[in-house]
Parts: sequence; structure tokens; C-alpha cells
Amino acid sequence: MTQNPDQTAASYADGVSEAHQLANTTYCVKSFGCQMNMHDAERVRGMLEAAGSFPVDTFEEADIVVFLTCCVREAADTRLYGQVATMRTMPPRPGSQRRVVAVGGCIGQRDGEELFQHLPNVDVVFGTHTLSRVPELIARVYHGQDHVAALLDADALGEASTDLPTHRDEEFHAWVPITFGCNNFCTYCIVPYVRGRERSRAFDEVVAEVERLAATGCKEVTLLGQNVNSYGRDLYGAPRFAELLRRLGETGIPRIRFTSSHPKDLSDETIAAMAETPAVMPQLHLAVQSGSTRVLKAMHRTYTREQYVALIDRVRAAMPDIALSTDIIVGFPGETEEDFLQTLSLAEQVRYAQAFTFIYSKRAGTPAARMEDDTPREVIQDRFDRLVAVIQKTAYEANQHELHQVVPVLFEGVSKRDDHVLTGRSPKNQTVHVALPEGHAAHEYVGDIRDVRVDEARTWYLRGTLVGA
Ligand code: SAM
Ligand code: SF4
Ligand code: F3S
Repeated sequence: MTQNPDQTAASYADGVSEAHQLANTTYCVKSFGCQMNMHDAERVRGMLEAAGSFPVDTFEEADIVVFLTCCVREAADTRLYGQVATMRTMPPRPGSQRRVVAVGGCIGQRDGEELFQHLPNVDVVFGTHTLSRVPELIARVYHGQDHVAALLDADALGEASTDLPTHRDEEFHAWVPITFGCNNFCTYCIVPYVRGRERSRAFDEVVAEVERLAATGCKEVTLLGQNVNSYGRDLYGAPRFAELLRRLGETGIPRIRFTSSHPKDLSDETIAAMAETPAVMPQLHLAVQSGSTRVLKAMHRTYTREQYVALIDRVRAAMPDIALSTDIIVGFPGETEEDFLQTLSLAEQVRYAQAFTFIYSKRAGTPAARMEDDTPREVIQDRFDRLVAVIQKTAYEANQHELHQVVPVLFEGVSKRDDHVLTGRSPKNQTVHVALPEGHAAHEYVGDIRDVRVDEARTWYLRGTLVGA
């Protein structure tokens, strides 16, 4: 049964009071995909807790399991199907009446009620525009309703606000969305179809949120959007991202990062604002996708290789020590060896400190899915491996710049492999490992920014010692 999805964040509170019957239940939220989903997961956790539910670590212990899904590449789809299917035979936790399985996020938005057919043990489906209804939908099923879906068209307006309870796992870091959706329609990409048109949050709302975070001791915010550089265009007629960076620099928040930037909209004003705002970290993620102007055109990226390189030159002229990262797709339909060599030479020329490399994945409904695509899989894999080798080399070289330097590190926790090793991030977003000083506990450092002398620089991390410890 489909409910009329007319409820937005504003009427969220009514839904919860009605649905407070999730008291004493347990929940587990799992998110896939990008930071938008991680932030949505924080809001789902916040709302479930406001409705009386308690967090647990495993599906077995949970009365409520929520998946925030991603469909940007095929592998993400497959992972969700695998995970939900394994739950089919899992009995409810002892003493519980049932387990409710809810699927939301981008696959929820894309497939809607069809998910009930593909995955019969799914009870609740929600989309990218109906997050605020999650506790109410779950409560209905938990108390007897068979299954329920709430979806709005991805282009519907609404929820360009995050005025919902939020459970943050870390007090020292916060994801702060500034735009939702995307208008760029790169030909390979599903995001505009599942997240809808670009909508910005109000300038004052973002500033107020970061001021609140700074006042409560948060050390770092990451501003989120599919293209943060166009922030404000829909509300104010022109982008206000540069102005936002400068204003947020006055809030007292020690560190500001943002992702993602589209090269076509990264303005000289924004470059200047980055360079002149000390809290903005010396790091820029600027997805290039391909080094071939021909492929960039087929991708509808709207810049050429030369324009991208000129932009990088302007960024480096303003911030010589900046760490650059990127996204690159290998094997876009019709990519030739010549096109690929252009990508390889661009990666060598720019010397990225980090790159997320992807093999093209056909997404139904996008224009690229209809393009001829006859490059053999082994050829694409070989290109991918050659690209990764170049990135590993430039990443290693970039990290050498920090060797024997003292860098301020924001400590995030302990290493997954060894709880006697603290891990944190440098201003350039490098992972930094430091041995926990004898006689001290990790919690004394987590959430603090401390100086670290770098003793070792590897491809994907730095290792160092605390200064003055
Ligand atoms: N809006 C961001 C931007 O343009 O930089 C990127 C968002 S997307 C979630 C993250 C990355 O996934 C893209 O930059 C692109 O490299 C990759 N991607 C998107 N669609 C893809 C596809 N169909 N196949 C392979 N990679 C894809
Ligand atoms: Fe996808 Fe392009 Fe939008 Fe990024 S800018 S989300 S790659 S359509
Ligand atoms: Fe995936 Fe949706 Fe993000 S498709 S990458 S979770 S916007």
C-alpha cells in the first residue's frame, strides 16, 4: 500500500508523536554510497532514537534494519541485494515480535514499490525525498501493517533543509549538506535522476548550523553537495559559495572541507576565498573523469582538458601546497587507447595526491547506456591497472612533502588493526598514524588537534610521533 507522501520535515514532529511506539525497539542502519547517504543515515538514526529506538551493532540484534542505498555503479546494487537476501532466513531477535527491513536512499527512489517484488523480505520502501517519514512508516509495519512505501518524484521540491533530529557518531566532525540534487546530467550518471534538481539550503541556515557546531566543540565540517560551487544559484540567482566559505571562516570552526566541486563552476572568487580563509583546508577534490576532451564532451562535462589544466594552474598559483584529488572513469563507451593515454598523461601532469578510479558501469536510463560500448573487459581492466599505478606513484610522491614536517592532526580514533595506534587527518586530508603514548588512553586525544612530526610517508598514509608528548 502506498501512503500519500505529503509529509515534509515540517510535519515530522507529528509523525513521531504518533509513532512513538518504537519505544524499546532496537535498530541498525547501514549506508552505502556517498557522504549524502552517510548524512541521511545520521538523520535516520536521530529520528529513530527520537521515536524511542536504541542502536545496536548487528542485524541479528535489531528489530529495525534500515538500508540507505546507492546505485551509482552496478556493484552497489549487487551489494544491497546480497545483504537483504541474507536476512531472509534470520529469525527476529529473542523476545521480539518481528524484524522490519526498510530500504531507502537512491535504490529506494529508483525502484520504488518494485522492490517488494525483487526483495520479498523488504517491508518499507522510501526515497530520497521522504526521509522524514521513516519512523512513522516503520512503526506502521512494526505494529502489524503488511508493507508500506512512501515516495515522491525526485524533482519534487522540499527537504532542502536538514531540520530533523540527527545522531552524529563523532562530535568532532559534521557533514553539513549545502545543496541537494544535481543539474549537470553527466551522461553516465544516475544521480540527477534519483536525487532530483539542485536545491540549496538558505545561507543563514548553513551559517547558523556551523556556528552551533563550533560553539559545541566540533572541530571540522565537510560541506556537501554534488556540485558545491554552484551553491545558492537556485535561491539567489548567482552562486554564493565563495561568500559562504568566507562567512563560515568567521564562525570559529577550526577546519572546513567541501566536496564535490565541478570544474566548470570553480570560480576565481572561490579559489581566492579558499586561499584567504585559514580554516579552509589546503585540499581540493576536483573530479576530472577523463583526460580526453573528446570523451569529456561525450560525458557532457562541459570543459576541455586544456580548461581543466588551466584551472589547476590557477588553483596552484593561489595555493602552491594544495593537495589535489579527483575521480576518474576508465572505459567510458567508445574510449580508445588514445583517449586513455590522454587520461594517463593528465594524471601524471596534475600529480594527484589521491584519486578515486572507477571502471565505467552502465546505468539504465542514462544517455551513455545507449552509446556503443564494445571495448573488451580485459582491455578496460588493463587501462584501469595502468592508471592505478600512476596514481600510486603520484600519491607516494605527494606524501613525501610531509616527511620530517610537523603537521596538525585531528585525531579521529584508533587504527582498525591496532588499538594502540591513534589515527587522524592532516590538513591535506592525509591519514596519519601515531603510537598511543605509554600510560595514556585514546579518548584523551580523539577529537583534538595535536602537532605530529612525520617520520614515515607511505602511499596512503603518514606515520609520526606526537610533538611534546
Ligand atoms: N558530483 C560529483 C562530481 O561530479 O564530482 C560526483 C558524484 S558521483 C556520486 C561520484 C563519482 O562516481 C563520479 O565522480 C564518477 O567518477 C563516478 N561515477 C558516476 N557514475 C558512474 C558510472 N556510471 N560508472 C562509473 N563511475 C561512475
Ligand atoms: Fe553525477 Fe555529474 Fe552530477 Fe556529479 S555532476 S552527480 S557526476 S551528474
Ligand atoms: Fe550513490 Fe546516491 Fe550518492 S547513487 S553516490 S548514494 S547520490
